[in-house]
Amino acid sequence: MVGFERMKAVTAEKSGLILSAADVHKSFSMGRNVLRVLRGVDLEVVEGEILAIVGASGVGKSTLLHILGALDRPDAGRVRLDSADVFEMDDESLARFRNRTVGFVFQFHHLLPEFTALENVMMPALIAGEPAVRCRERARELLREVRLVEREEHKPGELSGGEQQRLAVARALLNEPRIVLADEPSGNLDRVSGEELHARIWEFRKTRGQTFVIVTHNERLAEAADRVVKLEDGKAHQMGQKGGS
Ligand SMILES: Nc1ncnc2c1ncn2[C@@H]1O[C@H](COP(=O)(O)OP(=O)(O)OP(=O)(O)O)[C@@H](O)[C@H]1O
Ligand SMILES: [Mg+2]
Repeated sequence: MVGFERMKAVTAEKSGLILSAADVHKSFSMGRNVLRVLRGVDLEVVEGEILAIVGASGVGKSTLLHILGALDRPDAGRVRLDSADVFEMDDESLARFRNRTVGFVFQFHHLLPEFTALENVMMPALIAGEPAVRCRERARELLREVRLVEREEHKPGELSGGEQQRLAVARALLNEPRIVLADEPSGNLDRVSGEELHARIWEFRKTRGQTFVIVTHNERLAEAADRVVKLEDGKAHQMGQKGGS
């Protein structure tokens, strides 16, 4: 059923939207200067698709991804995630909602250095108050899926760059989010490690139907994505969309 997810992505039925941003603005004030980073970003993501976001360094890709994942608030504009208007929620409801709906892979993966690989993956569910035994089982399963189960006792500093990235992906998936936002997941990886990581992402989409929005400089990943959006001059421009399967 290779075509299934792609068909969903290509037809882009409005009913299948899982994430949308409308006229999103974001500026940073630096003393008397105002840096206008996002200047009216519109973006729609269909459930089950893999969308790549590309653009020059400093153009605002991480800023946008943080806003899409409700980690940061825009100055103006709307973000709807899984049909909820996220920035109309209070902070507590938003945190709960985000924990269930979104998995985030950070650009500098923010792993906890004092904890083992297994503990790092378990952490989001432990924080959500789930029983440790169940968390451990699910974390092991994910480590197996990203081929790290033999490294479960290693701390992040004892893992290779590629292994750390895969660990960050496993952690983002623990709460079975419907959408995963990943910021340069294969940045700084050699080709083989990058491709291994991409293979895992495509596998997750196939087996779990998860939606991925991936900021990337990696041309091979962008080529393989269902759709590519380029961020330029504060706006999102549609680049390419695949037809057929
Ligand atoms: N908290 C902040 N305060 C002030 N300026 C910021 C802040 N965060 C980001 N910026 C600025 O906003 C711009 C966009 O940053 P962002 O991190 O979104 O870029 P990016 O497209 O992800 O770049 P890269 O490809 O290098 O990761 C940059 O010029 C950056 O300096
Ligand atoms: Mg960035």
